[in-house]
Amino acid sequence: MFGGGYVGLVTGACFADLGHDVVIRDVVPERIEQLRAGEIPIYEPGLEQVVERNRERLQFTLEIDEVVDDAEFLYIAVGTPPTPSGDADLHYVWTVIDQLPQELPGRPVVVMKSTVPVGTGEAVRRRLDARGLTHVGYVSNPEFLAEGSAVRDFMNPDRIVVGSFDPDDGERVVGLHRGLETEVVRTDVQSAELVKLAANAFLSTRISFINEIANVCDLVGADVVDVAKGVGLDHRLGPHFLKAGIGFGGSCFPKDVTALKQLAGNSGYQFMLLQAVWEVNELQKRRVVQKLQKHLGSLHGKRIALLGLAFKPNTDDMREAPSRVIAYRLLSEGAEVRAWDPVAHPGDLPGIELAETVLDAVRGADAAVIVTEWPELATLPTPEVREAMAQPLIIDGRNLLDPVAAREAGFAYEGIGRPRHATTPNPSHREELRT
Ligand code: UGA
Repeated sequence: MFGGGYVGLVTGACFADLGHDVVIRDVVPERIEQLRAGEIPIYEPGLEQVVERNRERLQFTLEIDEVVDDAEFLYIAVGTPPTPSGDADLHYVWTVIDQLPQELPGRPVVVMKSTVPVGTGEAVRRRLDARGLTHVGYVSNPEFLAEGSAVRDFMNPDRIVVGSFDPDDGERVVGLHRGLETEVVRTDVQSAELVKLAANAFLSTRISFINEIANVCDLVGADVVDVAKGVGLDHRLGPHFLKAGIGFGGSCFPKDVTALKQLAGNSGYQFMLLQAVWEVNELQKRRVVQKLQKHLGSLHGKRIALLGLAFKPNTDDMREAPSRVIAYRLLSEGAEVRAWDPVAHPGDLPGIELAETVLDAVRGADAAVIVTEWPELATLPTPEVREAMAQPLIIDGRNLLDPVAAREAGFAYEGIGRPRHATTPNPSHREELRT
């Protein structure tokens, strides 16, 4: 496994759990030292246990020879960050391909786990051939792991996608997954590459769509939570990824939306829908600021508590987190920002004060903004919090709280697309209708 980051580590550890011998190679010495010492350098529920129970089958190394030695599969799980133009930066991929030794016994298969533009497989194939490595196979096997549930996602996948040039190489990669019960999609390399980008772009589209519906709800007095429920119960649409909020972040959606838009553009097609998905998401992060202004007027000199910094709960990841945009928008409006997160403690937010506890963050604040739906925040509207705040105003960027309960607890409350002032309980009437 080339790359001991999120994907490489989870995939490698889970393959070991399926009974395979896995060698994970990373170029960062501290990371390898940590892993050898049994420490997990990322926050991912369940991963430590999987690594622990497979210590016999898992090795960590800095040396390329130790990975390729007798390897039947050469998994690539290195980063493919966007370049300033929005194209994927593949230089880590090329470094791996160029470092493969000339003498590789048997028929090892290079398997691409990293998310790459369509056409990368063909380019790698050409490069392998040019180096005389025609006996080395190539397969695209994209990952669908979500941070925070990555181990569960690997062990219970919705599908396994395997695209290959040579059918036998593909079958061997399918065989690696023996023990997992799921649908297998066998296809060509280009299609497998596109499945990954299309899936992430589609999920992002759903989020931007429901966020726009939420913005309409704010204007017409509808409740987006009920609307999403009513929409999602249509089996053709389904209930997932219809949570309105402050927009999507993380290392995948923003990157993959851009990558697919860019890929289409480079191929001569303007992907207008994705342009809109992106813009809606950028505006959505900033709507919190407008909502604060609606309640507080000018934010100059106001103290705002940001509750949650990670791009979603159960991770310490702050890549492309909406919290970054919100924090610096608030600073440029002249507000003082104090932030709290149970796991993410970033050192790269100059000007933002970090608080140890929720109570410390909200003390003296003119408003509290829920940025990440950490379970700890579900009980935010307490008398203690209300007393601690200079003004008891909650802007709920994730629709985590019950608006009625929050208002009854003495807070001014505003969610995203939940403008109703007096809501009546709205149970599901499904059972009653049936009887
Ligand atoms: C995502 C995909 O879910 C994985 O299937 C994929 O493998 C991964 O990207 C990747 O490409 O590697 P991840 O970025 O970890 O996983 O996070 P998600 O749980 O999908 O959430 C992404 C963002 O969307 C978060 O900021 C989240 O708060 C937001 N979101 C999600 C919403 O705003 N509303 C929703 O209904 C769902």
